[in-house]
Amino acid sequence: MKTLITNGLVVNSTGTALADVLIDGETIAAVLAPGSQLLGFDVAANVDAVIDARGKYVIPGGIDAHTHMEMPFGGTSASDTFETGTRAAAWGGTTSIVDFVVQYAGENVIDQYTLWQAKAAGQCAIDYGFHQILSDVQDSSLVAMDELLKEGVSSFKLFMAYKGVFLSDDGQITKAMQKAASNGSMIMMHAENGSVIDLLVQQAIAAGNTSPYFHGTTRPWQAEEEATHRAIMLANLTGAPLYVVHVSAKQAVAQIATARDAGQNVFGETCPQYLYLSLEEQLAASSTEWGTFEGAKWVCSTPLRSREEGHQHHMWQSLRTNDIQMVSTDHCPFCMKGQKDMGLNDFSKIPNGIGSVEHRMDLLFQGVVDKQISLERWVEVTSTTPARMFGMYGKKGVIQPGADGDVVIYDPNGHTSIGFGEGRSHHMNMDYSAWEGFEIDGHVDTVISRGKVIVDDDRYLGTKGDGQYVPRGLSQYLI
Ligand code: URP
Ligand code: ZN
Ligand code: ZN
Repeated sequence: MKTLITNGLVVNSTGTALADVLIDGETIAAVLAPGSQLLGFDVAANVDAVIDARGKYVIPGGIDAHTHMEMPFGGTSASDTFETGTRAAAWGGTTSIVDFVVQYAGENVIDQYTLWQAKAAGQCAIDYGFHQILSDVQDSSLVAMDELLKEGVSSFKLFMAYKGVFLSDDGQITKAMQKAASNGSMIMMHAENGSVIDLLVQQAIAAGNTSPYFHGTTRPWQAEEEATHRAIMLANLTGAPLYVVHVSAKQAVAQIATARDAGQNVFGETCPQYLYLSLEEQLAASSTEWGTFEGAKWVCSTPLRSREEGHQHHMWQSLRTNDIQMVSTDHCPFCMKGQKDMGLNDFSKIPNGIGSVEHRMDLLFQGVVDKQISLERWVEVTSTTPARMFGMYGKKGVIQPGADGDVVIYDPNGHTSIGFGEGRSHHMNMDYSAWEGFEIDGHVDTVISRGKVIVDDDRYLGTKGDGQYVPRGLSQYLI
């Protein structure tokens, strides 16, 4: 199958050009001057399909490098399966995800990896890779880090919070970092001080402060800043590269920026919820001072931060200045009925997570419309940098000959209304949308995954199993 996308504005992170894009089979074969003439040869007359992208952007498919499909967590499991979650991602212009293999204390890392490969196999609508979560960092886990590298898993997530569930102590973190420094892999860090948070949570519940609002107040920015600093110091000590996930506090950004300015290999990711949503408007979610249970919809960790304190404004700025390098969703959806409501009388029992995998490309495009970031930076933070950061660039994250035919045709004159109801967009397996009522001045028109059109004109044309496992190399930001 040969497809030619004509007359679009091709947007790479490096610049834009009016060009035609030829996809041959699963791969981009050529980027041509508009008109598709090649040494007198009429390309358009010799392909199977022509897609007219006049007036539209032609961008590399989105890469969401932080998702948790069907993750067992908080006494339940994330409500999107690999099938439903990746289909929703496709609807929103994301053509690859990197999900997390979970290892709880006592479990064997390789067994868990094998299990996650089996969960995803034949289910996904788009391509997928894996990071590996490590909790108790056994000796066998260190051996597994080498073995998993050969399988294309080149990044390992550790947690400084969730004691008794995921938390690794500083010694365990140091051990894993020493291994990463020696084998070239990336350490990803959930940077919140778990002991401090656990104490504040206990005190809040004992004082009768049980509503979702207190999820935010018991995970203060100081706990994020302190853990971010500690993670940076341990990375400095060991020489491991460090990628801090879901950064929400401006003070944590400052820690990352300082380390980067000093030449350390430290990177930061934020998520749409930390750019748009806040403690006051969502977690409080009510006219009453401490909110209602409605706020449970936005219980996630790190938590939504105060707009009065300016975190959201600072996060956009950090994207512009490259103090923060990329945007993933941390997609970890739970329904209100039967899942979030486990914490009706105790916010600490609300499963942590927000579902956004479908909306990341749109929400960040709105940042272009609102002049928060440039068009090229939109592509960079949502596709090119994720590809580079996690060893997929060249094949993913760019429109150039030889890259996978993962292409999105985005209409800047279209419109997307997010949420449930007539004319609105919501395909994730949730009973609510954390983004209900958001209006986007743009629209995902066509999504092509390795040469196959899987979304077109508000129709889903793909099938379960279209997506393939992507073995990844080492981060392309490291020498
Ligand atoms: O609230 C969150 N972030 N849930 C998913 C697990 C994690 O920490 O990334
Ligand atoms: Zn986390
Ligand atoms: Zn996460």
